[in-house]
Amino acid sequence: MKKIAILTSGGDCSGMNATTRSAVRTALRHNLQVMGFRKGYAGLMKSDAIPLDTKSVSGIMHRGGTFLQSARSPEFRNEEGQRKAVENLTALGIDGLIIIGGDGSLNGALALHRLGIPVVGIPASIDNDIPFTDMALGVDTALNNIIYAVDCIKDTASSHARAFIIEVMGRNSGYLASVAAVATGAEYALVPEVEFDLSDICQHLNRRYQEGRDNAIIILAEGAGKAHEIAASIKDAIGFEMRVTVLGHYQRGGAPSVFDRLLGSRLGKRAVELLVSGEQGVMVGLSCNNIIATPLEDVIKGEKRPQDEVLRLAEILGI
Ligand code: ADP
Ligand code: F6P
Repeated sequence: MKKIAILTSGGDCSGMNATTRSAVRTALRHNLQVMGFRKGYAGLMKSDAIPLDTKSVSGIMHRGGTFLQSARSPEFRNEEGQRKAVENLTALGIDGLIIIGGDGSLNGALALHRLGIPVVGIPASIDNDIPFTDMALGVDTALNNIIYAVDCIKDTASSHARAFIIEVMGRNSGYLASVAAVATGAEYALVPEVEFDLSDICQHLNRRYQEGRDNAIIILAEGAGKAHEIAASIKDAIGFEMRVTVLGHYQRGGAPSVFDRLLGSRLGKRAVELLVSGEQGVMVGLSCNNIIATPLEDVIKGEKRPQDEVLRLAEILGI
């Protein structure tokens, strides 16, 4: 193995830079040349590659996002796009590819693996919906962003006797919402994994209001409904004022937490070591604080939902 490449794909997240830095520096220790494709699979299909050395990855670890940039690239879902990518990798003499991204990007990694490219995937998505890793990159930083915002909103909610619906990201996963609800002491977490009854919630909030508890926080996972629609449907039934905050892309940025910097550094190193040892077609992940490798085939077939214990905890500690 002489030359490897790295790309970041799909929704960016904090910790991608630490991962790239670690992979580049580990590769250099193994006397490998390293290239970075810009803008994920879009850059791979256009052969938009830059050489990476130790200097190109210095001073980036504390920055959110990804200096290699990312993209959603629908053309890569087609065989034609994937074949173009293989041609470009072959023309550049790349013997191994590290793909840092979410579940969509890992599907792309599996497609390249099936076309004979030695790949290692690294799970990176604030949604934490990727199986075979306890945590994906970016989740911890996103949660810290969320709890900072919710704490701020709680101050104003209690000053004005208001209820707030705070919508968080997560695509079809309620992980961010359920953990954020536990960590902020929110009254409710509404998540796609658990059915909820809005009239029950209204009755509870109304009863609490009559008892003098005049503010409330409901954390809504985006996959469980639209905040403005839910607010409109319940605002007259809770007995007090309601406001909505959609946290949006704020959640995805910012300086990575220690956890994400360390996780990225560990995963990036292991990904290179696996390629060097000839193991490929796998995703590296975190399991009980160990770094493990799981075949991409299993990752893509697998399913991950928030831990029932956390969902139950949010429910018990809430109202
Ligand atoms: P994420 O990786 O954060 O989940 P996406 O779902 O948008 O983000 O996926 C990122 C990119 O991965 C897509 O734009 C596409 O290029 C590629 N991709 C997604 N799904 C597949 C698939 N089933 N097969 C091949 N490539 C895919
Ligand atoms: O997958 C990460 C994520 O932030 C989801 O939580 C969210 O639904 C989506 O990406 C937003 O995508 P975009 O940045 O393309 O608007």
